[in-house]
Formats: sequence, structure tokens, C-alpha cells
Amino acid sequence: VTLPLTLSDFARAAAERLDAGPLAYYSGGAGDELTLRENEAAWRRIAVRPRVLVDVSQRDLSTTVLGRECPHPIFVAPTAFHRLAHSEGELATARGAAAADALYCMSSLATTSPVAVAEAAPAGRRWFQLYVFKDRGVSDALVDAAVEHGYEAIVVTADLPVLGVRERELRSGYAIDAAELIPDLHSGDLALTDIGTLIDPSLSWEDVERFAAGCGLPVLVKGVMTADDAVLAADHGAAGVVVSNHGGRQLDTVRAGAEALPEIAEAAGDRLDVLVDGGIRRGTDVLKALALGARAVMVGRPVLWGLAVGGEDGVRSVLEILRAELDVALALAGVPRAADLDGASVEPARWAGGVPFTA
Ligand SMILES: Cc1cc2nc3c(=O)[nH]c(=O)nc-3n(C[C@H](O)[C@H](O)[C@H](O)COP(=O)(O)O)c2cc1C
Repeated sequence: VTLPLTLSDFARAAAERLDAGPLAYYSGGAGDELTLRENEAAWRRIAVRPRVLVDVSQRDLSTTVLGRECPHPIFVAPTAFHRLAHSEGELATARGAAAADALYCMSSLATTSPVAVAEAAPAGRRWFQLYVFKDRGVSDALVDAAVEHGYEAIVVTADLPVLGVRERELRSGYAIDAAELIPDLHSGDLALTDIGTLIDPSLSWEDVERFAAGCGLPVLVKGVMTADDAVLAADHGAAGVVVSNHGGRQLDTVRAGAEALPEIAEAAGDRLDVLVDGGIRRGTDVLKALALGARAVMVGRPVLWGLAVGGEDGVRSVLEILRAELDVALALAGVPRAADLDGASVEPARWAGGVPFTA
């Protein structure tokens, strides 16, 4: 099979392949989906300021995150329920990410265990995303398994005390076979719109501080959208933050990660490593994120499209497309080392938003 050429092509191919329920779950956002659309549009409102006649014969895409070098800055965002996209689920995702030298952040709502993911791609770099469930014993056991099996950080998701109102999911009425997919959390079927009932809405900065002090791994807080919360994250012992609005799936009308990133990077200074996600679909989007202060980006839906279209190979292909596009973008922007990018490479674009990424 020939795989699609761009992430946009992958999105279309996945939409043809997926059943209506999983497709609504993967592609939808909250409310009127203003934030969902804005996530992609905001990167497109930024223009690149290219420099010429720079020797770009040697390019270096590497970045340093939590003190460790990564060959490139494109990471896999945590997303739930990969077996809805492909029978091999997270195991295929982990293998595809490892084949593309990409760090994979596994979700707490995975349809396989942290141990199995580690064994599927032993050489791959991996982080673990933590939801603190009402049944805190389940979360504790997940963290213990992550610590034991080579996960390098815990990413505490802070923007889902309750589930956003997602009307595509409500309309689809889709329910997962929880007894099969997440047996430790629920027996029988579970409507996607009821996932929030599993999660403990009392989670607070004191919990972050306790994890940071006690879990033995660096902790990042995912879902930070203001400089004030970035400062609190640092004050409570976090090593990093992921600037994220959960892919537009939680509070609609929140601004895009691209808009929040500069103030958060400034507030973080050298106290926190800053990552960003939401709407990253092109190598130029990655370049812009790094120029605005991120050390790496996370990619959510496109990885699911890759998984749905081609399993492990599809995941690998999506990540390699982005990486190759970033390489060309760096050369043409005249910044051969990704780590040298700064605000001089970007400016607000004068054109109006550009075309939406998905129809
Ligand atoms: C289908 C789906 C499931 C997700 N599940 C999780 C999750 O389990 N934990 C989490 O922290 N974020 C989750 N997210 C949010 C992603 O980590 C990420 O913030 C978002 O997808 C980035 O935007 P993008 O999809 O535009 O790249 C999910 C996103 C999607 C689309």
C-alpha cells in the first residue's frame, strides 16, 4: 500500500476507514468547536521570517527535554483507546513511534498495559500520562508500573476535572466495551460521554507537589494555558508544562496553544521545560512552536489517523512526514539548528487565517 503524503491526506483516509462512533470521538471537540478550529488556524496566522545565504548543509533537529537529548522535537501526545483505531492499539503506536525516533506519551486510558507497551518497543522513549481516577488505587498502580518499566516522566493532565461537553460524542451515542478495553476501571459498556465520571475532580496543586516529590520521576503538568499556572507548576515541583487545551475537547472558546505559548515560555524561564500541543499539522507549525519558546511539540489526532490507516507503519509515516517537513523548513528559514530558533524567525501574518485544515 502507498501511504498518504501529508497529514491532511491521512485525516481524509482515516475518516473513510473508521466507524462513525470512533471517528466522532477522535475528531470532535467541545461545544461549537471554536477552539478545535482555532488550534490549527492560530499556527497559520504566524508567518515565517526566512534568512538566506546561511550554510544549511548540515541540519540538526535535536532538542533537549528534561535534560535528555532527543533527535527531533516531535512527540506523540497521550490519546485514549487506540484499539478503537486498530486491533494492535497502543502496541502499534509504540512501535511506530520508536521507528520514527519519537517519544511516545502513553495515556492512562490506554487499551493495554504500560508493561505491554514497554515490551512492544523496548528501545523507544516513553512517558506516562496520568489521570487521577476516583479509584486512586488504579492510578497508583499505573504510576508504579510506569516507574518500573522505563517510562521517563509522568505527565499529569490537569484540564479534565470533568469532561467537556462534546456533542459529536453525544449524538453518536457510542459506548466502549469497557470490560474488554479498560477492565480495571469499569465493567460492561461505558458511554464515551461518561468517561469523566471515572476521574477525580478534586485534584489540586497539592497532589502535583506530592507526585513530584514522591513518584521518583520528573512530573509535567499538561493543560496549562496561563503564565500564572506555569508559575504555580514550577512552585509545586513540576519539571515542565504542556501548553494545551486538550485539542479543543474540554472548555470551548479557550484560546489556542500557539497564542498562550509566548507568555508561558516567558514565565517559565529556565525553571520549566515548555511543550505545546494542539493543531500541529505541518513542519512549519513545529518550527513556529520552537521559535515561540517550546522545546518540543506533541501531536494527537494525526497519530490516530496514521494508526487507523496503517497501524505501526501509519504512525511511523505521520511522524516521519512531520520530521521531514521540519527539516526542509529549517533549511529554508536559514536556521539549520532547531535549538537556535527564536522569535526572530516568526511574525504575525497579515493574511486572514488561511484555509481550515480539515473540511
Ligand atoms: C481522541 C483523543 C483522545 C485523547 N485522550 C487523551 C488522554 O487520554 N489524556 C490526555 O492527557 N489527553 C488526551 N487527549 C488530548 C491530547 O493529548 C492532545 O492534547 C491533543 O490531541 C492535541 O491536539 P491535536 O489532536 O490537535 O494534535 C486526547 C485527544 C484526542 C483527540
